[in-house]
Amino acid sequence: MDAVLDTDWAAHWRGLVEARQALRAERAPGGDPWAVRAGDFARQVVIPRDWFMSVLEPWLRPTATLIDVGSGPGRYAAPLARRLDWVTAVEPSEPMRDRMPPADNLTVIGSSWEDAEPVPADLVICVHVLYGVADPVPFLEKLERSARERVFVVMRDSPHTIAGEVLGRLLAGSRPREPWLRDLLLLLRQLGIRPDLRLETYESTYRFASMEVAVEQCRHHVGPAWDEARGRAWLEANLRLDEDGSVRYDGGELTSGVLHWTPRT
Ligand SMILES: C[S@@+](CC[C@H](N)C(=O)[O-])C[C@H]1O[C@@H](n2cnc3c(N)ncnc32)[C@H](O)[C@@H]1O
Repeated sequence: MDAVLDTDWAAHWRGLVEARQALRAERAPGGDPWAVRAGDFARQVVIPRDWFMSVLEPWLRPTATLIDVGSGPGRYAAPLARRLDWVTAVEPSEPMRDRMPPADNLTVIGSSWEDAEPVPADLVICVHVLYGVADPVPFLEKLERSARERVFVVMRDSPHTIAGEVLGRLLAGSRPREPWLRDLLLLLRQLGIRPDLRLETYESTYRFASMEVAVEQCRHHVGPAWDEARGRAWLEANLRLDEDGSVRYDGGELTSGVLHWTPRT
């Protein structure tokens, strides 16, 4: 048995996603796992030297179009609309879509990528979305069909440093990991795709509107292993109050990366 060549990387991916799904005790409110995080997610802004923007830079021009798959509140879609002819954001979570800044050249499709029917664009990006997609092959094939020039997929390639995940590992002893970028590389190679790779290691910081919001989000993230007393005590010891009344968690070093390739056909 050859550990790389004889493994079905799509089945391996599904196993990782299903093990994570089993951690959730209950369905998220309204069935949308992102509803509780949308407000804090929107607070995060793209800094001018954002590493992924620098990877995109050679492809950006005023005549190009782009689809942002799983755009969230528009962390990339909004600044990219200022650099491109047209941006189509695909985002299933209504609270996330509600926080998207409007722009004349930005269309928002309110559905999952699997159900969306966007017209193809020059560029397709998909940033930190694939972790919960159990069946990645049709998802990736659709990214490829929808791009005329280049597909970019960003994922983490080290343990997530968000407070709920760190706390979850502490309270449960261990947690199954999510799919990482290296799993995607092996899956893309299995599909016959030869992507370029760029990895980036950076300091991670997460903001919450208040301590109560942090507790609620972490309770939801940790699932059945949540312990109210230990969870609160850990958050009170590890979150710092900012001047505007919000709290922040410095998660330390995180490695993420992008795999990007020219669509076949
Ligand atoms: C971690 S957020 C990333 C948002 C944005 N791409 C960014 O980097 O700021 C993940 C987003 O992917 C969306 N998402 C999850 N599954 C999706 C799917 N199957 N199709 C499209 N979007 C999805 C979620 O609703 C959420 O807004």
